[in-house]
Amino acid sequence: METILEIRNLTCGFQNQPVLTNVNLSLYPGQLSGLVGPSGSGKTTLIKAILGLVPPWAGEIWFRGKRLKPGTAPPKVGYVPQVETVDWNFPVTALEVVMMGRYRKQQFLPWSSRRDRIMAKALLERVGVAHIAHRPIGELSGGQQQRVFIARALVGEPEIVLLDEPTSSSDLRVQHELLHLLAELNQQGLTILLSTHDLNSVATHLPWVVCFNHSIIAQGEPSDVFTPAILKETFGAEMVVFHQSDRILIANAGTSLRHQMQDNLPQILRKVHLNHNGHKP
Ligand SMILES: Nc1ncnc2c1ncn2[C@@H]1O[C@H](COP(=O)(O)OP(=O)(O)OP(=O)(O)O)[C@@H](O)[C@H]1O
Ligand SMILES: [Mg+2]
Repeated sequence: METILEIRNLTCGFQNQPVLTNVNLSLYPGQLSGLVGPSGSGKTTLIKAILGLVPPWAGEIWFRGKRLKPGTAPPKVGYVPQVETVDWNFPVTALEVVMMGRYRKQQFLPWSSRRDRIMAKALLERVGVAHIAHRPIGELSGGQQQRVFIARALVGEPEIVLLDEPTSSSDLRVQHELLHLLAELNQQGLTILLSTHDLNSVATHLPWVVCFNHSIIAQGEPSDVFTPAILKETFGAEMVVFHQSDRILIANAGTSLRHQMQDNLPQILRKVHLNHNGHKP
């Protein structure tokens, strides 16, 4: 199958410090993948490099069989930034944030604004936050802000969306809902790559994971990739992995939690299951 996005031997960094070294990654149309790695491992840098925001020192990025000029974004890409990096004091409403995503595409053509507004409203509805369309973005909860930014990424009608830690600012239930929304968008054909720290969410919700620490350590289905050896190589820490039927649970080893978990695993797994169905344990 032809790739939608291909990163070939990419090396880049800041000042003289390399952050990504020799990264090779292929994404296929319709793939839903999680990018996991420790803080500082270069997840955001990789996403920005794909967007052409961090120039390559070496290597190439290809979109649908065409090599992209260094420093240019793929033509049909949407981007949801890490919320910690956004200035929430910017005085705009949720609807205006979504419409900004459209302007980039339309280059401020004034006569397109009515259509843009209708489309932006429909997308806020689609991601479940139409009721806050006229509220200032800075006043919304982390989960609502994320949804507004997902709507903004979708308004340019992308084929692929890159999300940087979309679940970091929300509680378990909101995280679950967000991942569910992304899975729905994926089922409608959207290719998605999201970065996250949350291994357990990834293991439960995503069919494909990429373990990353300055370069690709491993990739595959969570049950194949989330092994103590690969997790240690990725995170530099001992982790324990529990399997029960088709569920995986990952915890830091070396804490008393490990023993608690071994004793109470069936109960903990039941709680995780309930949480992911949106109920209180
Ligand atoms: N604009 C920049 N200038 C200089 N160094 C930077 C810049 N952006 C990132 N770095 C450095 O690059 C490295 C990787 O950072 P990056 O933000 O890509 O990591 P990350 O995996 O996204 O981390 P986190 O999980 O905390 O978001 C870090 O050492 C960081 O300090
Ligand atoms: Mg980051």
